[in-house]
Amino acid sequence: MSSINTPAVVMDNGTGLTKLGFAGNDSPSWVFPTAIATRASAGAKSSTAGKSNLSSATSGSNIKRDMEDLDFFIGDEAIEASKGPGYALNYPIRHGQVENWDQMERFWENSIFKYLKCEPEDHYFLLTEPPLNPPENRENTAEIMFESFNCAGLYIAVQAVLALAASWTSSKVQDRSLTGTVIDSGDGVTHVIPVAEGYVIGSAIKNIPIAGRDITSFIQTLLRDRGEPDTSLKTAEQIKQQFCYVCPDIVKEFNKFDSHPDMFAKYIVETVNKSKITVDVGYERFLAGEIFFSPEIASSDFLTPLPDIVDQVIQGSPIDVRKNLYKNIVLSGGSTMFKDFGRRLQRDLKALVNERVSQSERLSGAKSSGVQVQVISHKRQKNAVWFGGSLLAQTSDFKSYCHTKQDYDEYGPNIVRNFSLFGVP
Ligand SMILES: Nc1ncnc2c1ncn2[C@@H]1O[C@H](COP(=O)(O)OP(=O)(O)OP(=O)(O)O)[C@@H](O)[C@H]1O
Ligand SMILES: [Mg+2]
Repeated sequence: MSSINTPAVVMDNGTGLTKLGFAGNDSPSWVFPTAIATRASAGAKSSTAGKSNLSSATSGSNIKRDMEDLDFFIGDEAIEASKGPGYALNYPIRHGQVENWDQMERFWENSIFKYLKCEPEDHYFLLTEPPLNPPENRENTAEIMFESFNCAGLYIAVQAVLALAASWTSSKVQDRSLTGTVIDSGDGVTHVIPVAEGYVIGSAIKNIPIAGRDITSFIQTLLRDRGEPDTSLKTAEQIKQQFCYVCPDIVKEFNKFDSHPDMFAKYIVETVNKSKITVDVGYERFLAGEIFFSPEIASSDFLTPLPDIVDQVIQGSPIDVRKNLYKNIVLSGGSTMFKDFGRRLQRDLKALVNERVSQSERLSGAKSSGVQVQVISHKRQKNAVWFGGSLLAQTSDFKSYCHTKQDYDEYGPNIVRNFSLFGVP
């Protein structure tokens, strides 16, 4: 098919973090904020101008690009630059979808030339998209990848499907199926996505307006209320990642803290002049992750616990797949990393399902064969989408499922509206 033997590039651009690397690896080589800092004057280009500037960056000519490199930063460098004057910080992806294509193009440009340091014409690319991404967004992506960067080939995969593939590394997963319910909880949004044989059941998807960012700001509020000496978002996020877990019962957990003072922790922040600030860490250790299960503790408008949402999603899916959707509930994304998140979800969901089963047994008088509820946690869960992409893009037939630069030139952007499904053995 193609003489290109270089590893495929795998890019998962999330609302908060970009995961970047080469297929075949266990983890992304770079993880950095999906942020771009542009010179306040140069960054004023409107996003609706969209793709009009794309053709100016013709393939092969990197001179213009090198000049532009001086004008903007991405990732952690963008955040640093924006602390000084003259740069404006932007996040081109919102709720999982690209919102500013000019910024996204520059972000990709730097990802490819400054981080991956590869020639895109020598690589196939696997990019990811959220469920229900509008087809125009795929076309915009292809236009940038093929016309601005001259990529050899492109595959755009749905994040949830990649998360299912990533779960094959768990010993609990016996068959490598692409049927299951994916709980993808990142920084900006939590999606519950039913997938049957690699196809998302779009009508049954639900989103929950609770994700990493909300949990961090909830912790920040608790720190502020207590008058801690450092209540920055960065500190709140570090506390979340290092100390928080999901408990079985919050009333008991409060009691446990009160009778075991060693449950309280201390987080040490080093200041610029090397002095140390101590932040006490208390009930937020278990309250933060509890937001998924008792949303009323942090919000007054969204009140449905995650296990109920998962149950509704599966009940909203076709009856013949429900059993397999309950049996293979797969976790994906940074905000599912709280210790015992999967255990609590499985327990609460089991309780809901068992209640319904016994109710229908009472009504019908017939004994049900029961429903197996299984939540899969695994060691690649944090970057599951990227890892699933790495697994699939390293297979020998990956390239045959991509659209190539030649296909694109011959048939135009709308060929990327469809990709054949691959990865099901
Ligand atoms: N150990 C941890 N415990 C809790 N949260 C964590 C942990 N590690 C990372 N996170 C959180 O996960 C979030 C990032 O997750 P992820 O990379 O999956 O999101 P994303 O892909 O950028 O966003 P989205 O999927 O919403 O578009 C951040 O809010 C981060 O604080
Ligand atoms: Mg994500």
